[in-house]
Amino acid sequence: MLAARFENSDDFDELVVSNNDVVLRNIAEDLRNRLPIEAMFTSEHQAVQKIHQHPLPMIHVDAFLYDDDVVDSLCEEGKMSRSYCTECGSYKTASLEFISHSFSLMELKFLYQHVLPDLTGKVVVDVGSRLGAVLFAGYLYSSASQLYGVEMNADFCQLQEMMITKYEFIDRIKVVHADICTQPSLLQKADVVVMNNVFEYFLDKQEQARAWEFIACNVRKRGSLLVTVPSLEESLSKLQADVQLSQWVEEVQLNYDVYMEKDIDREALEQIHLYKIL
Ligand SMILES: C[S@@+](CC[C@H](N)C(=O)[O-])C[C@H]1O[C@@H](n2cnc3c(N)ncnc32)[C@H](O)[C@@H]1O
Repeated sequence: MLAARFENSDDFDELVVSNNDVVLRNIAEDLRNRLPIEAMFTSEHQAVQKIHQHPLPMIHVDAFLYDDDVVDSLCEEGKMSRSYCTECGSYKTASLEFISHSFSLMELKFLYQHVLPDLTGKVVVDVGSRLGAVLFAGYLYSSASQLYGVEMNADFCQLQEMMITKYEFIDRIKVVHADICTQPSLLQKADVVVMNNVFEYFLDKQEQARAWEFIACNVRKRGSLLVTVPSLEESLSKLQADVQLSQWVEEVQLNYDVYMEKDIDREALEQIHLYKIL
């Protein structure tokens, strides 16, 4: 029946992909309804403190939960703002700096459709899986055999488990509630490790340095891939970590022009870096 309705298999593939976008948007809506607007739990003391210490006002808007259209409607309703008053009572305003703790749908599609190769039979580990966005997108947009999320915050683990059960992802997604530094064997068997801004807002500098040293010691499978935001050079430049980049990884240049969809945010895509383990 299906074959008769589609001119060719490309049409069918396109329909499946856009159906996956709908599923991801449904998950995002589900999660929005279960979280406060800033999408942070009070259990995240350190991250909340770090955001408050930032020199300029910063607002946490989770890019997986709130795309530009949703942010626009919240601004119209007066529930969110893109600017702040620099001199209370005056019309002098400045743009707020937005920070997201998750990849957006656009970044996830770029990751699985243009950055990573065919993942059939491969093991993916998302370090600091938070809402599970990388895991859910990996389930829908790739053929990875197992997608592991490691998350140290219990509230976020519970939330991910709820979504895994509701959307029946249990056969390929597993969430581990742990500090990544207790999971050497998982890192050693991974074919792809994803690290989206994992440590900077959640650990102090010494803990960050220790965690990076642990990652560099255990993500060692030759030819396996490491995806980071921002670049390894940028993350490590602020720390005193004993990591010899040139002996550990080789950067794979990405083509940011391949993503042709209308929601492109080139600046965000350019933060995504891919490395091959030597
Ligand atoms: C910026 S979020 C990344 C979210 C998700 N990977 C994504 O890309 O959408 C970073 C997450 O890492 C978690 N995290 C930080 N340090 C960790 C550690 N040592 N072990 C496990 N999780 C950690 C934080 O609790 C936070 O939820």
